[in-house]
Amino acid sequence: MNNFTNTQKEIIKLKEKKDATILAHNYQIPQIQEISDFVGDSFELSKIATEVYNSVVVFCGVHFMAESAKILSPQKKVILPDERAGCPLADMATPDQVRKMKERYPNAKVVAYVNTSADVKAESDICCTSSNAVEVVNSLDTDEVIFLPDQNLANYVSQFTDKDIIPWNGYCISHSRVTIEEVNKTREFHPNTPIIVHPECPKEVKDKADYIMGTGGMVKFAKETDYSKVIIGTEEGLLHRLRRENPGKEFYLLSPSFFCSNMKKITLQGLLSSLKNLSPEVNVPEKTRSKAYQTLEKMLNN
Ligand code: 13P
Repeated sequence: MNNFTNTQKEIIKLKEKKDATILAHNYQIPQIQEISDFVGDSFELSKIATEVYNSVVVFCGVHFMAESAKILSPQKKVILPDERAGCPLADMATPDQVRKMKERYPNAKVVAYVNTSADVKAESDICCTSSNAVEVVNSLDTDEVIFLPDQNLANYVSQFTDKDIIPWNGYCISHSRVTIEEVNKTREFHPNTPIIVHPECPKEVKDKADYIMGTGGMVKFAKETDYSKVIIGTEEGLLHRLRRENPGKEFYLLSPSFFCSNMKKITLQGLLSSLKNLSPEVNVPEKTRSKAYQTLEKMLNN
């Protein structure tokens, strides 16, 4: 507690008083990760949201993550400290577009990446995250799968399934900016060092990387590997966690473009004020929530 700033100390006291749990995604700023009750990837966070006993969940992440927590735990008050923290990828699929695709491919099942709105989840059959996308697709009893909204993750999944993957045209603006030239240059400067990239990266970059995994996989890899140096190809916030948990190892960012301005909208001051006011609250209309719940629950039980 002694190393914390006054704002951090105030947040810690207030979360006890308000019966709140703070959940933070791996991309959050270090000062928020340090005082959160749980830091994790999208899958871990949606699971933990169903397991915590507190009446308030403060979600330090982007909107679809807080919304998923609300879908899974409607009796809890779910707070997103800055309501402007959206996800451009999630905005690249609308429920109307999903309905049209279902009409076009009536035999296909719809897999919604967790980076989607509640309305899109409600139109889908099952959710997935980067850590379980292949397993989720392979668990389905249809030959055709509409996979939305990330085309790069869809392409990755298609390499590990016999099913016909019908991709969407969405992409993550932070992960799609990395270039092959950056990978080549990094190899030149750090030979014999593994390069790990997120499946949301473009195919050409993934083809040149040594490993492809979501942020939870990267956390595990960093702990277990014998390499003393690893190059990370995902949002820069994860590096803080990797360095904190593995003090003897070095981690470098593959490209400076791995920066998500939406994740960074969550600040310590914003978190403090949201705890004081218990707002902005995230709510989902019950009709949508109950349908979206089924898609998330299927993923959690898969
Ligand atoms: P993870 O599920 O790997 O944490 O990824 C979340 C995400 O939104 C990547 O852009």
